[in-house]
Amino acid sequence: MFNVKPVSGSLGALISGIDLTCSITDIMYQEIHRLLIEYGVIFFRDQNIDHARQKELALSFGPLQTHPAYDTVEGFPEITILENTPEKPSKIEKWHTDMTFRPHPPMGTVLRSKIIPEKGGDTLWACMSAAYLGLSPAMQNMLEGFTAVHDFRHGFRESLAEPGGPQRLAQAIADNPPVEHPVIRVHPESGKKVIYVNSLFTTHIVGLPSKESEALLQFLFDHVTTPEYTCRFAWQTNSIAIWDNRSTQHKPVNDYFPAHRKLERITIDGDKPY
Ligand code: SIN
Repeated sequence: MFNVKPVSGSLGALISGIDLTCSITDIMYQEIHRLLIEYGVIFFRDQNIDHARQKELALSFGPLQTHPAYDTVEGFPEITILENTPEKPSKIEKWHTDMTFRPHPPMGTVLRSKIIPEKGGDTLWACMSAAYLGLSPAMQNMLEGFTAVHDFRHGFRESLAEPGGPQRLAQAIADNPPVEHPVIRVHPESGKKVIYVNSLFTTHIVGLPSKESEALLQFLFDHVTTPEYTCRFAWQTNSIAIWDNRSTQHKPVNDYFPAHRKLERITIDGDKPY
């Protein structure tokens, strides 16, 4: 139906031959959904969609979430603004899955670019089912018995250390106490096993002494970023990336400072990981 060009061996595909600025049919949405599960992250170029269309596109996957800490687009509380300027360099440095501090983390994310630096500012993604398959059977078996804690405060510790940070984020902290998720989860649609800890929000593995938990998490944080599990997308203005937040991690490459970069993001409700 569309042109689909895989961008790496593990995940990611560039989709062309579709105009997302106009309404699209249910069959087209279903095909986009299928491609999302198959490739983990899908990319579109030259899609100058407005906020209402971005919301419509995201809603085709399910109900939307709001973010407890980021600024939002006026009239669209579900669209968060990710904007970095010389006065406000990016704080998102680490590989992560979006919002795993929630009991029901997002199933997916629709990110759309508005202002892109002349050079730099790409985003990397990594495939968590490939990373799982890259572990030895002994390690897979051991990890399957574990859960880990994910904490909003851990992910936002830099913001919390700023003057006024604790006051600004007090409500977000109260609304988002630490949660526990399996270290290996089963993707609810593909049935694949995936690694589900990330360096931004995961604090420790439950039931292990801190030294063992730290060593094991550090091993996993390194392992998931193995180049063979990753892909990279060079943004242009009006690009869109949609990723499956259950089977991937991502990281913006902060090599563009002090240039201006602005993207707008919507996250879609997910289920409880098991
Ligand atoms: C995100 O982490 O959701 C944003 C990624 C990016 O800014 O490239």
